[in-house]
Amino acid sequence: MSPTPLYSGKVRDIYAVGDDQLLMVTSDRISAFDVVMAEPIPDKGRVLTAMTAFWSEQLASVAPSHLVSTDLAAVPEDLREPGWEGRVMLCHKAEMLPIECIVRGYLTGSAWKEYRKHGTMHGATLPAGLLESARLPEPVFTPSTKADEGHDENISFGHAAELIGESLAGQVRDVCVELYQRGADWARERGIIIADTKFELGLVDGELVLCDEVLTPDSSRFWPTDAWEPGATPPSFDKQPLRDLLERLDWDKTPPPPPLPAGVVEATSRRYVEAYERITGRPFADWPGTGG
Ligand SMILES: Nc1ncnc2c1ncn2[C@@H]1O[C@H](COP(=O)(O)OP(=O)(O)O)[C@@H](O)[C@H]1O
Ligand SMILES: [Mg+2]
Repeated sequence: MSPTPLYSGKVRDIYAVGDDQLLMVTSDRISAFDVVMAEPIPDKGRVLTAMTAFWSEQLASVAPSHLVSTDLAAVPEDLREPGWEGRVMLCHKAEMLPIECIVRGYLTGSAWKEYRKHGTMHGATLPAGLLESARLPEPVFTPSTKADEGHDENISFGHAAELIGESLAGQVRDVCVELYQRGADWARERGIIIADTKFELGLVDGELVLCDEVLTPDSSRFWPTDAWEPGATPPSFDKQPLRDLLERLDWDKTPPPPPLPAGVVEATSRRYVEAYERITGRPFADWPGTGG
């Protein structure tokens, strides 16, 4: 019998391991417009886990990671399930900061909407005349609140400083911009633009630690570099087959989700694996666990 998770998010199930660790099990669930689809995407959970492990290692000099191990053998035996191979993260439990640490390198999504209306991004003025999906002069830390219900709200740096304190907010901003910069430069050379991303940081024994998933297609906007042209939003590297389908169906974005044809499920799975292989240069077949 499976143990009961402490918490089930849209994508992850979280279990307590003793008093100071957590086990995060990443599922193959996929959501669009905040609605979880009925069909799992084979290998998605393993790709997100493998990619997070890669970046955590790659960026360790910028911030320590909450990750203890992605090896199923490191998980206490009474908690382990064979199907979890390749998609577990044993982590230090952190006291999570009450903000989403977004960094934007390109002008898109809610930031583009605000800029088009007011010429600002999270309240701060930007140069005039920028096009949709334009590369920003430099990456910007643009936090948001963490809403339990409904949508997160974009906030200014000043508002973030009120929530977590000026000095911690400054430290968080500098760390996040550096993480994004290094990751985005790395990915761009490998054919993927990371337009923006969301980091989640927390404190472990008073130290600032990088938590959750890191620079994955679920926490970021990935665009194929060759499809990017300012003036329009490029297709998403990973979710394009799904988005195309949902647009064709004219689904109203409320549950229940429409059924996904096998072709869309397979195409999406292939995109996730391709993103992993392009970014890491490692064959996904080397990552533990079997597909499905
Ligand atoms: N090291 C950690 N300690 C405590 N909580 C964490 C840690 N890393 C991630 N989390 C939290 O675990 C949850 C991850 O589950 P997920 O399925 O991604 O949830 P959500 O749907 O809320 O994004 C998030 O609420 C995240 O803030
Ligand atoms: Mg999440």
